[in-house]
Amino acid sequence: MRPRTGFLGTGWIGRHRMEALIAAGAVDPVAFVEPDEEAARAAQAAAPGAQHVPDLEALLDAGLDGLVIATPSAMHAEQAIAALERGVAVFCQKPLARDGAETRAVVEAARRADRLLAVDFSYRFTRAVEAIAPIVRSGELGRLFGAELVFHNAYGPDKAWFRDRVLSGGGCVIDLGIHLVDLLLWMFDFPEVQAIDSRLFAGGERLPPSPEAVEDYAMATIELAGGVVARMDCSWNHHAGRDADIRFAVFGTEGSVAVENVGGSFYDFAAYRRDGTRTQTLVEPPDDWGGKAAIDWAQRLAADNRFDERCRDMVAVADILDRIYRGN
Ligand SMILES: NC(=O)c1ccc[n+]([C@@H]2O[C@H](COP(=O)([O-])OP(=O)(O)OC[C@H]3O[C@@H](n4cnc5c(N)ncnc54)[C@H](O)[C@@H]3O)[C@@H](O)[C@H]2O)c1
Repeated sequence: MRPRTGFLGTGWIGRHRMEALIAAGAVDPVAFVEPDEEAARAAQAAAPGAQHVPDLEALLDAGLDGLVIATPSAMHAEQAIAALERGVAVFCQKPLARDGAETRAVVEAARRADRLLAVDFSYRFTRAVEAIAPIVRSGELGRLFGAELVFHNAYGPDKAWFRDRVLSGGGCVIDLGIHLVDLLLWMFDFPEVQAIDSRLFAGGERLPPSPEAVEDYAMATIELAGGVVARMDCSWNHHAGRDADIRFAVFGTEGSVAVENVGGSFYDFAAYRRDGTRTQTLVEPPDDWGGKAAIDWAQRLAADNRFDERCRDMVAVADILDRIYRGN
């Protein structure tokens, strides 16, 4: 049976995920909340049978199995907890919350309610990442010692709320770096992180640890137990020379693997395996991956709406972001 699903916030990503879920036949779209008139019209066109309701309370009164949250980031935790406390499973856009403590509170609410909770770590579902993950985990690359994590969005976000820490929870680290940290921890099966060193900038100026301002460039070194040292760079509005520069590479003594965006695209990814001067292409675009994490959640929900321990991953990721903001 398709889960009766509500949508909270149908701006850019919310409508995309709504359309992907409907196209896959994964949900029954019952109702949505969207205060912006133009965005609401577009959502209604995508889900003609869904009711446009004024707020979360009205949405929860519609009798939902699941709720898809895609509001400005700082609202996620409170909205997710409200839904879980009403016994509704949640699929939330990243970040689930603004810091580790808030993330724990949402995961605990899911555990208490015994309801499924997932976050849109969408890059895990790209074919390119799916191709390199088993190679990294297999031992074929010899002794693993390095990783390179890059996400430059040369446009930067186009909505004002992203640059207001109260609404966003932070800048490029919580917006873009979160995906890189998630991929790193997930690929290495959530190891202990032994050391972190970071530098944050805004407009080229160094920011203090735990800054008030929203950072637009971050550099971090993340040392994992077992010896892998990852270097991460992420930014908004950097002179990247293209729309986006996105890379995730892992280096071993017997070879390396990499996922890279193609032609500056935000959506097209290739995967490579490298051996000395030789490169083997593992995956090339196209790949319609954007809605796959949402569809995976809906399919899991259709089978079983109960709490899934894997959502602890979100706490591990949030704790590392906290340390990147603190600088250690
Ligand atoms: N998983 C990913 O890769 C990915 C990609 C892009 C964005 N995101 C995340 O998705 C979220 C939304 O980003 P966006 O780019 O779609 O922003 P957006 O501004 O386009 O969309 C947010 C929408 O929420 C609506 N909204 C505001 N307050 C609301 C409320 N109280 N109830 C219901 N709706 C409300 C706004 O009117 C707006 O349409 C952010 O948290 C962002 O970090 C995730």
